[in-house]
Amino acid sequence: MNQNIKIRDLEINPNHWYVVARSSEVKTQPLGVTLWNKPIILFRDNQEKIHALEDRCPHRQVKLSHGKIIAGLIECAYHGWQFNALGKCVKIPYLAENQKLPHCQIQNYPVQELDGFIWLFLGENSTQTQPLGIPEWDHLNYIATVSLIHCQAHYSFVIENLMDMYHGHLHQNWQAWTDAVLEKIDESPDQIDVQYQAQSYYKIDKIWSISQLFFPALRQLHPEPLTVSYIYPHWVSTLGKDFKIYCLFCPVSLTETKAYLIHFTSLHSFWRLHKLPIPFRRFLKNKLFGSAQKLLDGLVEQDIKMIEEEQQAYQNNPEQKGYEFNRSLASVQKLILHQASLS
Ligand code: FES
Ligand SMILES: [Fe+2]
Repeated sequence: MNQNIKIRDLEINPNHWYVVARSSEVKTQPLGVTLWNKPIILFRDNQEKIHALEDRCPHRQVKLSHGKIIAGLIECAYHGWQFNALGKCVKIPYLAENQKLPHCQIQNYPVQELDGFIWLFLGENSTQTQPLGIPEWDHLNYIATVSLIHCQAHYSFVIENLMDMYHGHLHQNWQAWTDAVLEKIDESPDQIDVQYQAQSYYKIDKIWSISQLFFPALRQLHPEPLTVSYIYPHWVSTLGKDFKIYCLFCPVSLTETKAYLIHFTSLHSFWRLHKLPIPFRRFLKNKLFGSAQKLLDGLVEQDIKMIEEEQQAYQNNPEQKGYEFNRSLASVQKLILHQASLS
């Protein structure tokens, strides 16, 4: 692929909603995050509403995220200046009577809390696009597991790994499917949908289906459609009706990427379960949260190793060309190029 040299140095298109944290990561104290080289502080006001400001105190330029939330205001750790959710300085503890508050204004960013995650917008017009949204997050029929992909690599290496279903070889027994065959690619300016036919190991139709996770002998290969979509800048995949996975991107810099992988197992087949009282179903959903944790973390660890090595190899020799037989990766690179050209 002769586009390699450019792809790994491309910017993101800031005119999309990116995910910067899980909701549960922002509690009563502020959280510092980085999205595409921009340090950002996330915090909640008295109503628990989330806010995002540039992570910089205008007094001495230290990080505001070292500070505390006092009555819904963010207070800098160094001299105790306080700022409101809009980024305006509202209090300096040692201001003399004849001194006025400075007109310093920290940049604030559009931010939304949706489906268990914090979504942030760096671009121009945040009302023109919507966050991807994850309807399964609150749906009682889906059991979620979340794993973090945090790697020292350009985001393009991560999305190429996720779109390339020929790398099941790496995961061996851990992969839910095998023998993927690419059947169809649909391209549009901000989305690529790829269909594979695969053989799935798991069938979630009996109450003991979970035991297939621990006893490989119980698994029976059967054909299932496998789909992967790059809905820029995020990723969604389905395996038959039983599994759905999202990957929500937070590109940190040219050589660092964070991405939240959310795996859903559907309880769709258990019709008896759907007749139980809703509080019980919610209890069950919460109780089973994270049941695929070990599996997902294991897969992520294997992927990160490969992705970081690709980045290293690129940095050591950017001119080195590879060979690629998965047609969808050319589509992915084309989409990244197109989106970066809009930035
Ligand atoms: S550096 Fe923040 S209050 Fe002084
Ligand atoms: Fe993988």
